[in-house]
Amino acid sequence: MSFDLIHRPRRLRKTATMRRMVSETTLSVDDLIYPIFVDEGIEVAKDVKSMPGVTRIPLADVPAMVKKVAAAGIPGVIFFGIPAEKDAIGSGGWDDDGIVQQAIRAAKTTCPDLMVIADTCFCEYTDHGHCGVLHGETVDNDETLSNLQKEVVSYAKAGVDIVAPSGMMDGMIAAIRTSLDAAGFQDTVIMSYAVKYASGYFGPFRDAADSTPTFGDRASYQMDPGNRREALKEALLDVEEGADILMVKPALAYMDIIREVKDATNLPMAVYNVSGEYAMVKAAAANGWIDEKRVVLETMISFKRAGADMILTYHALDVAAWLKES
Ligand code: PBG
Ligand code: ZN
Repeated sequence: MSFDLIHRPRRLRKTATMRRMVSETTLSVDDLIYPIFVDEGIEVAKDVKSMPGVTRIPLADVPAMVKKVAAAGIPGVIFFGIPAEKDAIGSGGWDDDGIVQQAIRAAKTTCPDLMVIADTCFCEYTDHGHCGVLHGETVDNDETLSNLQKEVVSYAKAGVDIVAPSGMMDGMIAAIRTSLDAAGFQDTVIMSYAVKYASGYFGPFRDAADSTPTFGDRASYQMDPGNRREALKEALLDVEEGADILMVKPALAYMDIIREVKDATNLPMAVYNVSGEYAMVKAAAANGWIDEKRVVLETMISFKRAGADMILTYHALDVAAWLKES
């Protein structure tokens, strides 16, 4: 028997080719950015325990690593540095021979066309693990801005294409734009971690980057997970201050925010599929509880559907390989 239905959405799901014709969202290798941890204090790559498949690499391995990323067709990498020495203000961040500066030079020499991004903060450089200069137990916003100005110019001199300030300091985009322009780096792109929540999902990263705060947490600078309107305020401020690309971070628990920021602005949107999101998938996959490839590809397409134009993800090399297969 058959019912007299007017609408039968299943018509458009009948065959793989039909589904391909009507698909609304696509994922491409062009959407991916691969994070790389460079450790000044090691000579051989070291596994990050809580992030299976991710390693900290020595400077000497940067050329081989960026070649691998470029060969996979991935357009960009983002560097995080673990310096040999830390101090109270994070002065290693603006050392022209610092670990990130050296990694940038190595990457641009090896693969000039690859987009090289530098995470721009101080938590890896300070001995207390906070994202700037401390006065008592609080991070001093404006003193940290002055240091950020020095840090980005140092990265720009090393040849970075994009700086990505991640410290959630007020006015950081304006401060950075001013110092870059004054130093003649008008074309250095700013990718702002515009909306970054104080998140438990950063846990594994702090092992990887050695940046766990020695006391307290980041709640006085990163955002409260329950806040939505404040996310729009942060994003719009960064647009006004001259950001070129906006980022929402973490990604999975903040899909609504990705969509809202995308709809409220006209800048390219990046999302950060963070360490804790990665670790959960890897742990479940290692136990045989989920199909890793299927779950990761579904997650990536969902970021795109939510409005992401680019995805920073530790899965990038795997995703690039899977896309090539199909
Ligand atoms: C530095 C920074 C962090 C991440 C990116 N840049 C850590 C933090 O804010 O504690 C997290 C990335 C990840 O979890 O994968 N400010
Ligand atoms: Zn930081």
